[in-house]
Amino acid sequence: MGHNLNELKDEILNFKAENKQEIEIFRLKFISKKGIISEIMQTLKTVTIEEKKEIGIKINEIKILAKNKLIELSNKIENKNISEKSEDLTLPPLIKLGSRHPLAKITKILLEIFQKIGFNISDGPEIEDDWHNFTALNIPPNHPARDMQDTFFINKDFVLRTQTSSVQIRKMENTKPPIRTVSIGRVYRNEAVSTRSNCIFHQIEALYINKNVSFKDLKQTIFHFVKELFGKNIKIRFRPSYFPFTEPSAEADISCMICDQKGCKICKYSGWVEIGGAGMVDPNVLDNCDIDKNIYSGFAFGMGIERISMLKYKIDDLRLFSENNLKFLKQF
Ligand code: PHE
Repeated sequence: MGHNLNELKDEILNFKAENKQEIEIFRLKFISKKGIISEIMQTLKTVTIEEKKEIGIKINEIKILAKNKLIELSNKIENKNISEKSEDLTLPPLIKLGSRHPLAKITKILLEIFQKIGFNISDGPEIEDDWHNFTALNIPPNHPARDMQDTFFINKDFVLRTQTSSVQIRKMENTKPPIRTVSIGRVYRNEAVSTRSNCIFHQIEALYINKNVSFKDLKQTIFHFVKELFGKNIKIRFRPSYFPFTEPSAEADISCMICDQKGCKICKYSGWVEIGGAGMVDPNVLDNCDIDKNIYSGFAFGMGIERISMLKYKIDDLRLFSENNLKFLKQF
């Protein structure tokens, strides 16, 4: 027998293959029918029974070794191919990450300001019934105040809510005072789309009901809110106004930070921009929600979120919020 089995074993173990052709060389040399192992098997016919036993065991071991080696070599090359083809994972990602929408960003900021002073968050439906959007807010059917908001009607009983004030009613109906809550969401009005108005926009609304709540508390809360959002140097003023569900009512203006009160398009050259409506909750509204008006009083104020974002981020066209223009959105 011309082969040293130990050397053969070493040769198999140390065989290196870089590609498929080299693996084939391995297979032909050791495992194939004309390979070394077969050749040795053939020679077993010519040896004594003792030798046959001894060599047989060894050659069988070598055969298994060679087959395993073949599998190992094939796997190595397969893995190598995969890692050569796949991307370099150390490169920065090619997918561009998006950014938060400015309205989502400001919503988070606004809610945080209110939550820090003890307001919780309430929610209500966008398809709202007449009672919550109008009647309970002291706007009975045929009242001229219904014209203040151009309404989209679903049918004679349901509307797309025109204001988040509807959530005030829902909250007061199912919560005992004290109530300190803020609601935020989409509202709808049948208005022409322009740089300053849209038929869909967002409002945030705060409501506080407790014993002895006065206009002083309302003013103080708005002051706090505005300074937290726009900074300490901002000025605020209140103008008398009218809302059916608050009495007395006011509109809050802040100093125009776009032109520093020098006069610009946004503030219509007045130096002041309106940010929202406010007032003491009308006793009729408390009655409608079964809250005792002789014990409790409260305030509410509501603002347009687009308006606030325009001031905060110096945006001069309200339509940008809904156009999904990437050049605009990437700035946030
Ligand atoms: N709901 C009023 C509007 O949409 C704003 C408002 C809210 C006024 C709360 C007073 C109190 O115009």
